[in-house]
Amino acid sequence: WASRVVGCGSALPERRLTNHELATMVDTSDEWILQRTGIKERRIAAQGENTSDLAIGAAKAALKQAGIHGPDVDLVVLATCTPDRTMPATAVRVQAALGMTGGFAFDVQAVCSGFVFALSIADNMIRLGQVRTALVIGAETMSRIIDWNDRNSCVLFGDGGGAVVLRAERRAGDQPRGILSTHLYSDGRHQDKIHTDGGTSSTQTAGKMQLEGREVFLHAVVNLAQASQEALVANGMTKDDLHWVVPHQANQRIVQTLGEKLQLPMAKIVLTLDHHGNTSAASIPLALAEAVADGRIKENDLVLTPTMGSGFTWGSALIRW
Ligand code: ACO
Repeated sequence: WASRVVGCGSALPERRLTNHELATMVDTSDEWILQRTGIKERRIAAQGENTSDLAIGAAKAALKQAGIHGPDVDLVVLATCTPDRTMPATAVRVQAALGMTGGFAFDVQAVCSGFVFALSIADNMIRLGQVRTALVIGAETMSRIIDWNDRNSCVLFGDGGGAVVLRAERRAGDQPRGILSTHLYSDGRHQDKIHTDGGTSSTQTAGKMQLEGREVFLHAVVNLAQASQEALVANGMTKDDLHWVVPHQANQRIVQTLGEKLQLPMAKIVLTLDHHGNTSAASIPLALAEAVADGRIKENDLVLTPTMGSGFTWGSALIRW
């Protein structure tokens, strides 16, 4: 079996927070943020608007595009580091909202790499024949764990949700479609480089984000390039075979450096940073949904999704759309 992507969708909060507005909250400026990160604005969830709301909105949009009804889904994997509640998993809220009474749903925690980790889990379950139709979602309300007084981190993040629907299909032909391979890594020695200073077990609070931006930057450019090359080599392909790279959206300069390392023009890289900011696990599916909706990603395109996040976690997926 192979996992074909048969639909994708997204959901964003209404509220836009511009750099200019941020400059009234902390000592920063539109120029600094734009120059250092490429971000112009990000979306912020309203009070009472939770990660599950964004996940459900994205899931419904993806199912609509796929022409599949909620009860026909066997698996929901939701990647998030900002769950509605400590327990149960936010994914079961999505399951209930979609009218699913069968199958199973759970959350995955790999921070910014969560979507690729979730995609890998769902893909492997489909390959094994355990699941036929899977919803893979990345959804976050990063605004809830940001220290809004810390200019080092509060300018970087946004809220949102994105989802893809995977369907089991018999692998056929010499150019099979679907997820070709996934590659996952973590290195816990770097767990403190981006972390929250709290948690259920330690402080009984979610905590606020602390981040060593420059350190993250240096590791990100190396790890993203390594995971990208690995996916190409594993499939006997080169960068010339790629139609699109849809990387995790952390910083435009990180993405540019990745483009240089892979010797790919920026025109082949999907960037949504300017209007989404870094939405953690939601960033890749949000960008995929946008590039499919505007006609950039088409059937049979080869799409690479390198990612890197807190943990450190990193990896990639190579997908024939
Ligand atoms: N406005 C104005 N000045 C600022 C701001 C701000 N918002 N933030 C930091 N500064 C100042 C710093 O205090 C520092 O001042 P100093 O020299 O007087 O100490 C100066 O700007 C330079 O700071 P640097 O950290 O060296 O700036 P850098 O060019 O590295 O950019 C940034 C910082 C944007 C965070 C960058 O390192 C980055 O994007 N890192 C990776 C992204 C990241 O950490 N993402 C977190 C999620 S993980 C992931 O998604 C991969």
